[in-house]
Amino acid sequence: MHVPSPAERFLEDFHQRRPGTTSTAFAHLRSEQHESSYAALAATLPDSSASLSVLDLACGNGYLLALLEQLYPQRLQLVGVDISQAELDEARTRLPGSACLLKERAQALSIGTASVDVVVSHLALMLMDDIELVLSEIRRVLRKDGKVAIVVGRGFLLGAVGDAYLQVFRQVAQQDALAHLPMGDPRMRTEEGWRGLFSSDFDQVTVQNIDVSWQPDFAELWQSLSATYDVDRLTPAARGQLQERFKSAIDHLPHADGTFVTGWGLRLIQAHPRPC
Ligand SMILES: C[S@@+](CC[C@H](N)C(=O)[O-])C[C@H]1O[C@@H](n2cnc3c(N)ncnc32)[C@H](O)[C@@H]1O
Repeated sequence: MHVPSPAERFLEDFHQRRPGTTSTAFAHLRSEQHESSYAALAATLPDSSASLSVLDLACGNGYLLALLEQLYPQRLQLVGVDISQAELDEARTRLPGSACLLKERAQALSIGTASVDVVVSHLALMLMDDIELVLSEIRRVLRKDGKVAIVVGRGFLLGAVGDAYLQVFRQVAQQDALAHLPMGDPRMRTEEGWRGLFSSDFDQVTVQNIDVSWQPDFAELWQSLSATYDVDRLTPAARGQLQERFKSAIDHLPHADGTFVTGWGLRLIQAHPRPC
């Protein structure tokens, strides 16, 4: 029987309590070429009129699957997998009845071998344990002419706002004795690491930086940051301190209208299964 790691237990608990936080934070942030990082993934679907089966791995509240349905109506057989029932419950409300939603781990899919045309995943793989197992499951379920396209994190908040935040966060976390919670394989932090991970089972691997820009005022900035995993793990008192100290650390940075220039550094990785 699978015994979840501390990171996996935390993720399951967080998403049970706070479903939908990722799409709330990211769906409205544009990249240079796309309406959002979800739209960047949607644009990777093969341009054909044939019907396709698409699996969203760690689909969360179904935002990406709903966007795919809207962009390619009635052309896709949608499948979503997630470990959080609360996320899947939200997904159920926004997706057509034909969409199949499965509560299971990306490391142990019940989906048939060579049954999926496209695997997509938004901001999830870099959190997962046993990434090699996840990639081999993706390889297993993909048809031989299928493809995988994922968006993963590349860094934290961009620019001076991000630097200031990390500096203050580290001080507060230390004072709060916040235990380290290792999440994801360190190889998932670099392009070379991702290329190495994909190299065993995939060909034609492309890795592209797709930063999304964001110009929030402090209230919006804090609302989004307070819904991140590490801030969620702080005590309420430490959270209050972080908010106060962060506000004064960046009070010289806003534009005249009170907004800050920042964004998130992301990667878009695409690959095709290597023929067996
Ligand atoms: C940051 S959220 C992203 C959700 C969604 N893809 C989006 O971008 O809106 C990460 C998601 O991964 C799910 N998750 C984490 N580990 C997982 C695993 N091993 N298998 C399946 N889902 C997982 C969480 O429950 C959560 O819904």
